[in-house]
Amino acid sequence: MKIISIVGARPNFMKIAPFVRAIEQYNHTHKDATSPNIKHILVHTGQHYDDRMSQAFFDALGIPAADINLGIGSGTHAEQVGNTMIGFEKICLEEKPDWVVVVGDVNATLACSVTAKKLNIKVCHIEAGLRSGDMTMPEEVNRLVTDRLSDLLLTPDKLSNANLQKEGVPEEKIKFVGNIMIDTLEANREKASTLQINNIITANLLDPNRAKAFHPHLEGESSASNEEGGSYALLTLHRPSNVDQKEVLEPILHFLTDEVASEMPVIWPIHPRTQKMLQNFGLWEKAISCPNLFLMHPIGYHEMLRLNMTASIMLTDSGGLQEECCVLGTPCLTLRWNTERPVTLKEHGGASVLVGNNIERIRKEYQRAIKAGRLPQRPELWDGQTAMRCVKAIIDYQA
Ligand code: UD1
Repeated sequence: MKIISIVGARPNFMKIAPFVRAIEQYNHTHKDATSPNIKHILVHTGQHYDDRMSQAFFDALGIPAADINLGIGSGTHAEQVGNTMIGFEKICLEEKPDWVVVVGDVNATLACSVTAKKLNIKVCHIEAGLRSGDMTMPEEVNRLVTDRLSDLLLTPDKLSNANLQKEGVPEEKIKFVGNIMIDTLEANREKASTLQINNIITANLLDPNRAKAFHPHLEGESSASNEEGGSYALLTLHRPSNVDQKEVLEPILHFLTDEVASEMPVIWPIHPRTQKMLQNFGLWEKAISCPNLFLMHPIGYHEMLRLNMTASIMLTDSGGLQEECCVLGTPCLTLRWNTERPVTLKEHGGASVLVGNNIERIRKEYQRAIKAGRLPQRPELWDGQTAMRCVKAIIDYQA
């Protein structure tokens, strides 16, 4: 059996790492058996290309180098999707895979599932069934199209099964396997916990001269009190709905600099898109001049996991971090009005609250959240063993 799996952007790497490992494990344990050996080809579309957004994750997570990189790079959605389809079609025609496996909801997920399906190649979607209901989100369009075309839909939670059933997807195509991101979290938890926060800050600050300013908050880094709560906020922002309009981004920045940073250090590994937007809107000076706001380059997987383990609070619009906060128990304000991951919300037993980008609401929930303790939760089958269930589902698939 030949499988091509696809990665394109940062959130894909932590999903593909355990899948690649599970294939290796499968091949290892089925050497002499009659079951088919899996030939695996990894394709990187090249949507994310900066070392810190891409190669760093291959290195840290032990992902073998991509067999093929399409070098798509930045562009409009149509450019990214179109160029990926043109490049990927050639690969499919040459390699003739039995399966194309896509993960998540980025442009690579959409482009490669459409390309494969048009060539009658079977498509498996890992992380199927997530729905935000928000069609202004590029990722929602990618999810809907990918799921509509997939032959095998592997879901992270049962709410996703219900979404697919509602859309009329035949039951035999859907398989609940759990959350593959949590395989990566569990495999790397121990290594992350050995990292020192001050080293992470020093190594990743945009302005290395600011390292000393963070120092007072590192006292007792390894003490019990820090392990329980830490004394810093962790922030990530990259969604177009939060960062592409000045009238939305500016009040968020003011809340961070004037309110959160006046109480505790705010650690902000900044996405290239967000940095560009702050600069375009003339807000960059405000951000870099706030003494308690620590702007960092995009950081590695272990570094983010370590910071998340003891943050007092997470403010984010990332879906993956919402999930990691759920398992780690970090109180999380999700700066969105909706989520495709309701299982991470408080009302479903998780650690996250939707606050959108309304400052009143963010402030109110922030006050509540910093008082809340850490409450780790583990949704069903978020057990670190999802990748092997994905491989088995593909092997057992019967058309
Ligand atoms: C993409 C995904 C999003 C995911 C996010 C995580 C889609 C539709 N969106 O959004 O789902 O949550 O990645 O990061 O696929 N840039 C760099 N260096 C890089 C990559 C990007 O400077 O290595 C710049 C680009 O030039 C562009 C901006 O960042 O201006 C946005 O990149 P893009 O790949 O278009 O989308 P993301 O916002 O990263």
